[in-house]
Amino acid sequence: MTKILITGACGQLGSELTTILRKIHGADNVIATDIADPNPQVAEGPFEHLDVMDKDKVEELVNRYKVTEVYHLAALLSANAEKNIDLAWKLNMEGLLNVLKIARDKELKKVFWPSSIAVFGPDAQKKGTPQNSPTNPSTMYGITKVAGEQLCNYFHQKFGVDVRSLRYPGLIGYKSLPGGGTTDYAVDIYHKALAKETFTCFLEKDAVLPMMYMDDAVKATIDLMNAPSESLTVRTSYNISAISFTPEQIAASIKKEIPGFEISYEPDYRQQIAASWPDSIDDSAARKDWNWKPAFDLDSMTKDILENLPKMSVAEKE
Ligand code: SER
Repeated sequence: MTKILITGACGQLGSELTTILRKIHGADNVIATDIADPNPQVAEGPFEHLDVMDKDKVEELVNRYKVTEVYHLAALLSANAEKNIDLAWKLNMEGLLNVLKIARDKELKKVFWPSSIAVFGPDAQKKGTPQNSPTNPSTMYGITKVAGEQLCNYFHQKFGVDVRSLRYPGLIGYKSLPGGGTTDYAVDIYHKALAKETFTCFLEKDAVLPMMYMDDAVKATIDLMNAPSESLTVRTSYNISAISFTPEQIAASIKKEIPGFEISYEPDYRQQIAASWPDSIDDSAARKDWNWKPAFDLDSMTKDILENLPKMSVAEKE
C-alpha cells in the first residue's frame, strides 16, 4: 500500500502533484501538508499543517499515516531566498535533512526532492549545460540546491535511501501561482494578458531561460518515481529540459492569440539571478535512463494556458 506525504503541497508544483497523485493512489492515500492553510486544490483529501523544520512533527505524521513515500517540496525559491538568506539556508537544508533521516530510519520506500537549474552559476556552459557541468551557483537558493543534491546522493550511497530528484527549469502552470521565483514572470504574464493589462517584466527582453510547462513537469516527476531503481544512474539530480525562451519571445507567442497584448521592461535584482543561469540544458541522461521527452513547446503551451485559465474560478486561482 502506497501512502504519500507531500510537503509544500500548497505551492505551485505541490498543488498539481497532490491532485495527480490523489487520482493515481486515491485521495485518502495522499497527505498534503503545508505551513499555509490549504488551497482548494489540496483541500479535498487529508491535509495537515506542517513546518518541515519541525522534525518531530514530520516524524509524527509519517508514523500516524503509515507513510511510505515523501515528496518533499517545501522550500524558499530563488528571489525570496536572496531576501532572507538565513531562512533559505535553514528551511531548504534542515527540511531536507529531516526528511532524509526519517526516510533512512523508517525505511521509507522512496523520496522525491526537487532541485533546479539554479545549481548552475555563471561559469557553467550556457547552452546545452551538461549533466556534470561545474555548478558554482551565485545565489543562496542555488547553494542550497547544490548542497541538497549532495545530501541526496550521500543518503543514497551510504544508507540506501531511494531518493530521486530533478533539476526543474522554470515551471509554468495556470492552476496556481508561484511565489518568489525568478522565472515567475512567465506565469504572471498570462494573467495580465487575459486581463488586457500591459505586463511589466522584471527581466530584460532578451533574458533567455530554460522553462517547462507544468504538465510536462508533472509527467517527468511521475515517470522518474515509477522508473526501476536500477535504471537510475544519477543520484544527485537529473537535468531535464523542454523549452527555452526570452520575455520577448513569450510575449510574441501571446500576441499571436491576443494581438493587442503589450509588454514593457523594468529589470530589477532578479535580472542578475537570471543572467547567472543557463540558457538551455542537456538532458540526455534523463532521456536515456527513463525515457524523458517533453510534449509542449512555447506556442502549444500558450494556447493551452489561454484556453484553460479563463475557465478557472477565482478561488481555484488563489
Ligand atoms: N523557478 C525557480 C525560481 O525561479 C528556479 O528553480 O526560483
